[in-house]
Amino acid sequence: MTASPRTPHADGRPDPTDGTTAPGGEPAARGYLLDNARKEAGERFVWLAELFDGVTRGHFERLGVGAGSRCWEVGAGGPGIPEALAAAVGPTGHVLATDIDPSWLKTGEGYEVRRHDVAVDPAPEPGTFDLVHARLVLVHVPDRAKALATMAAALRPGGWLLIEDADTALQPLACLDDSGPAQRRANRLRDAIRELLARRGADLRYGRTLPRALREAGLVDVAAAGAFPVGGSACDRLEASTIRHVRAELLAAGLADDAELDAHLAAIDAGELDLTLAPLISAWGRRPA
Ligand SMILES: C[S@@+](CC[C@H](N)C(=O)[O-])C[C@H]1O[C@@H](n2cnc3c(N)ncnc32)[C@H](O)[C@@H]1O
Repeated sequence: MTASPRTPHADGRPDPTDGTTAPGGEPAARGYLLDNARKEAGERFVWLAELFDGVTRGHFERLGVGAGSRCWEVGAGGPGIPEALAAAVGPTGHVLATDIDPSWLKTGEGYEVRRHDVAVDPAPEPGTFDLVHARLVLVHVPDRAKALATMAAALRPGGWLLIEDADTALQPLACLDDSGPAQRRANRLRDAIRELLARRGADLRYGRTLPRALREAGLVDVAAAGAFPVGGSACDRLEASTIRHVRAELLAAGLADDAELDAHLAAIDAGELDLTLAPLISAWGRRPA
């Protein structure tokens, strides 16, 4: 799978910040840290798809997504999941893919694309979807409960909400095998990125709260599972894209210097770090019939 060519970013994108204060009392930096306006975002979507689309598709199948289903993919990012849903629902189904910046999505591929801020905008087509899904989105949205309520409102009675989000505090290491200076540097830099995310209002412990959050949103038959990869080239490529994406911000915040970032990128290219990720918690619940 390859990154699709970017279309130019349209101005006027809603600002998803709520002006929160970072831990330590500093004013929060504004906006989604890993924004889609940079080419590294498209690279990240390719590697996230490689790492997690199989897990996500398994949940779709288990929840009964099939021919004729109506699905809303929230914060879709790249085309991987919208394309998979379009293939599953076929010509009699409907797939809506939304994002605050939908530049990486392709129109005319069997799914509809709309710009939509799940933190602010009302549910599109309320009460009609068999499945609403968001992966690695809500952790970045300051008012997560409101966003969940919007997604729940889009479900038909009996429809499923599937939320997948990282819990970076549950497993914070980049290298589980902390065997040398390169691995320890990787873990330090992972801490630095977590610090940037926290300053933007991300909830680093959000994944573990999902079952409770779904029950509080009025859903029933709630359950959850966790998954994370350990090592492999997709983890390496995702890490390199992420580091390049946030490099300027790490430097500006004094959380890293050029020498250690260059050394880390070289160690990734050498393929000896066995990089890993935070667990992805997948939680699902059904709107009462
Ligand atoms: C880490 S990416 C995940 C992309 C994709 N869901 C995946 O798992 O590969 C987060 C995505 O959420 C989108 N996003 C962030 N805040 C959002 C909001 N308030 N409303 C809709 N989308 C949002 C971003 O633009 C980005 O495409």
